[in-house]
Amino acid sequence: MYAQPPNPAQSANGAPAAGPAPEREPAFDPAFRAGLAALFAWRRDVRHFLTDPLPPGVVEALVAQAVQAPSVGLSQPWRFVRVSDPARRAAVRANFARCNAQALAAQPQERAGLYARLKLAGLDQAPEQIAVFVEPDPATGHGLGRATMPETVAYSGVMAIHTLWLAAAAQGIGLGWVSILDPAEVTAALEVPAHWRLVGYLCIGYPAAPADTPELERAGWEHRRPLADCLLQR
Ligand SMILES: Cc1cc2nc3c(=O)[nH]c(=O)nc-3n(C[C@H](O)[C@H](O)[C@H](O)COP(=O)(O)O)c2cc1C
Repeated sequence: MYAQPPNPAQSANGAPAAGPAPEREPAFDPAFRAGLAALFAWRRDVRHFLTDPLPPGVVEALVAQAVQAPSVGLSQPWRFVRVSDPARRAAVRANFARCNAQALAAQPQERAGLYARLKLAGLDQAPEQIAVFVEPDPATGHGLGRATMPETVAYSGVMAIHTLWLAAAAQGIGLGWVSILDPAEVTAALEVPAHWRLVGYLCIGYPAAPADTPELERAGWEHRRPLADCLLQR
């Protein structure tokens, strides 16, 4: 699943094969569904990256797929900021280091040792970093759907990130979501409008190793719960 390129689903420059949408709804056959199930099972939050760069055009193609995500009122509130400037990356890394140290200090004594051993960001290795913000009060969409639930704007940003996450995993590219950050500092470091809301800071690149189990489960931090614990009936 996380094989390195060449990948037959990619074009010559390594970007996912794109093209005009088919005129008729494609048939999603059992083989496709089996592949999709494997994609869901093998998509991981990645913190251990190879430093190899992604081929040219791949980030743009991934973001082009991400913006096909649903959004409240078709508001498309997402704003993707590709962070390549070394000084800005250093500011985000320092931000993470401080917030992670604070999180470690807040751990109960019995979990502090385990927390300290966790790797919670791939900021030093990942070749690509993208900060995803939302415009909290977008004109696009004319407010439809968010009057009673303004948080749906941020949810729309999450949908785009998840779409990007799956699109990346489908071509062997890993993504790690970093939230152990002071969002106001990220906003300032990237010089984006102060009212934008940070949804996630993403590290993207080829994973060091594939895994079908979350890293936090392998590290003994938490385990996945059975379906019965989260599916209710009334
Ligand atoms: C909103 C959100 C924020 C997250 N923040 C972090 C983070 O700061 N650091 C980290 O290592 N993982 C972070 N993760 C990844 C989760 O730890 C991971 O999704 C979870 O352990 C399940 O693993 P999996 O994604 O490999 O299935 C975040 C995930 C989500 C959805």
